[in-house]
Amino acid sequence: MPQSPTKSPGKKIVVDPHLTRRAVSYQGNKTSPGFRWLKFKEGFSASLVESLLSISGGKSVLDPFSGAGTTILTACKMGKRSVGMDVMPISEKMVGVMDSAAHVSINDVRDAADGIMLSMKGSGDGIPFEHLRITRGAFPPRTERELSRARHAIKSIGDESIKNIINFAVMSVLEEVSYTRKDGQFLRWDPRSGRDVAAVLDKGRLPLLNKAFEMKIKQIIEDMPHVKSAYAGPRPVARTESSLKALRKMKPRSIDAVVTSPPYANRYDYTRTYALELAWMGYSETGISALRQAMLTATVENRPKGEWLAKVYGRSSLPGEAADVCAKNRRLQSALKYLKRHAAELNNPHIIRLVENYFAEMAVIIAELGRIVRKNGNVFMVNDNVRYHGMDIPVDIILSEFAEKSGFTCESIRALPRGKGNSSQQMGKFGRSELRKCIYRWKR
Ligand SMILES: C[S@@+](CC[C@H](N)C(=O)[O-])C[C@H]1O[C@@H](n2cnc3c(N)ncnc32)[C@H](O)[C@@H]1O
Repeated sequence: MPQSPTKSPGKKIVVDPHLTRRAVSYQGNKTSPGFRWLKFKEGFSASLVESLLSISGGKSVLDPFSGAGTTILTACKMGKRSVGMDVMPISEKMVGVMDSAAHVSINDVRDAADGIMLSMKGSGDGIPFEHLRITRGAFPPRTERELSRARHAIKSIGDESIKNIINFAVMSVLEEVSYTRKDGQFLRWDPRSGRDVAAVLDKGRLPLLNKAFEMKIKQIIEDMPHVKSAYAGPRPVARTESSLKALRKMKPRSIDAVVTSPPYANRYDYTRTYALELAWMGYSETGISALRQAMLTATVENRPKGEWLAKVYGRSSLPGEAADVCAKNRRLQSALKYLKRHAAELNNPHIIRLVENYFAEMAVIIAELGRIVRKNGNVFMVNDNVRYHGMDIPVDIILSEFAEKSGFTCESIRALPRGKGNSSQQMGKFGRSELRKCIYRWKR
């Protein structure tokens, strides 16, 4: 029978009027019990995951960039087995705190929280917040003292699940009580921090830690009955490890559906925006630098991972094949050629390295997904296109072409009716036009 010619992924782009920014961003989680506990702005909504998993069916779910754990926790709520991976320990914390909340009594949480609030206000011993260079000055002196007393008091909580919840509640209000704000790509600073800041942020009157903590505990307690009914089943697996390494350990054809959103190739640095939370979790200066380098390349600071990958993969031919897919991709190569031609005009010369390595690493991830996803299984990926020096890089088409080389068929690339504007710098120079924000669906 004659085969109908497969359309190139570019022809699969459709604007989906039902796809809202609320669904593909954290906004949709602001009212979801449990998910609203931590403001993870780069997340997508639990309702989006639920609708994608209902389309896809199957029993096993994977998210190689699990962020705050939206995919794996939603899958668990739907009775599916799920595995998440992230270099940051946030999804592991989220899974841990939901599990703790599902198994402890509300009264015990309330009693422990009352004790912590008393300590915050008291004059007892403390364990100082261990600042990183990039977090120094983040809190007013009074908050610094409250935090120190909270750390000390948390240490003496005997029950690990209660300790988990209290510790998490403090972590999730750090931004609120600080002179910082996670704002797009940056952590912005209020000048009262004493930092020399270019873009002025006025956070107004900051709440005291004990007040912000009290509100957070109230929210957690309010959500606990729901969490108890939704997350009492088998716990999702959350690995704090680079997916460039962790995927390698997964069995072939072991997963039915992947719902994920990798870092975008847009210079966003998670280790800076989440510095307060990472410092609270005990990251040292060297720990943060190592974490930054372990991140999928998305900033100009990322160094190539070629040698490291070669060690991880040993004799496997997969990285070589992935590199070959990049070398033969016409769109990627022409984008790189353009950037190289304009190298002297780029506002940072490492943008070329960023683009090269972003795609090289994504090609490895996609090749691994091709190995791990079962026949007829689905990959759903949320990602943004990017623009450098006035040139749009069609990340959606390039990655979908990679997927087709890894055994998938690109079923659709659904774009949001409104894309993203460009940076003010680019807007001044190259005019305004929107960048596509899409969900790709690849079928194995
Ligand atoms: C767009 S966020 C994912 C958000 C997630 N969908 C959610 O709803 O919370 C991308 C995540 O990729 C993680 N990441 C970056 N490099 C990684 C790597 N090499 N391996 C695993 N995760 C990585 C980041 O830490 C970040 O949490």
